[in-house]
Amino acid sequence: MQPELCKPTDRVLRYHPADKIFHTVNAITWFALLITGALVYFLDLSDKTKGGLMVWHLGLAVIFTLNIVAYLCMAPHRFAVTMKNLLEWDSNSIRWFLNLGGYPRRFFHIPLGPVEVPPQGRYNGGQKMSYLMFFFAIFTLAITGWILWVAAPLVGKMAFKWMFYYHVWAGAIVSVLVVCAHIPLALLSWSHVTGLWRLGSGTISVEAAMHHTPIWFKRDVIRVNPDDSGKEKA
Ligand code: HEM
Repeated sequence: MQPELCKPTDRVLRYHPADKIFHTVNAITWFALLITGALVYFLDLSDKTKGGLMVWHLGLAVIFTLNIVAYLCMAPHRFAVTMKNLLEWDSNSIRWFLNLGGYPRRFFHIPLGPVEVPPQGRYNGGQKMSYLMFFFAIFTLAITGWILWVAAPLVGKMAFKWMFYYHVWAGAIVSVLVVCAHIPLALLSWSHVTGLWRLGSGTISVEAAMHHTPIWFKRDVIRVNPDDSGKEKA
């Protein structure tokens, strides 16, 4: 969409209901699974307490898995749009890493790379890398969890052991990334946070879209309100 055709306070659709439901249920169950799993693995609790926590962990795992399956089966087109945008790397995505989006300069006065941040599409280079990692973790933690739970007798002892370590440590490492990088960086754009998390429409302001994702805004955002077409021609 052409920037001159709208005001900075106008709103554009960024998150469809399926994206919002998937992300919200995923984030809530992720942290609940993290807490129940970490308590069982890292603390020296009584067997009874551990058993109770595992029942919660497995119940939450069912919701976590159903959320993934529902997203893939009921909104495959939304998952495809997200994946297309995450897998599409151009020179701007790569050059984002030269100054890490300008954040080290802005927050810590570290003069890393060029001053200008190259214009980004729907996701910047750092988001592309981390969201691909998050999706990989979401899928593989669900798969390994189910194997450890219901198919343990079918896998060898060694495979079971390595799957268990993967399940624990991939979950822990990705959680550190989510807490220390994903959430603080997401909070830098309140328009994106509220667009994704609030009940209701998944729109963000034109100002936020233009500032963070100018290529996405110009290339992919389209007007669908027929009343607007007159304005565009005028
Ligand atoms: C309270 C916690 C969280 C907040 C505030 C949050 C916030 C956000 C925001 C604002 C976006 C949109 C970024 C954009 O469109 O440019 C996003 C996307 C994403 N988040 Fe989170 N997030 C949280 C927890 C998590 C967790 C636990 C995971 C899973 C490991 C996760 C995985 C993702 C993924 C894969 C995306 C990209 C997919 C999409 O745009 O729908 N998030 N998050």
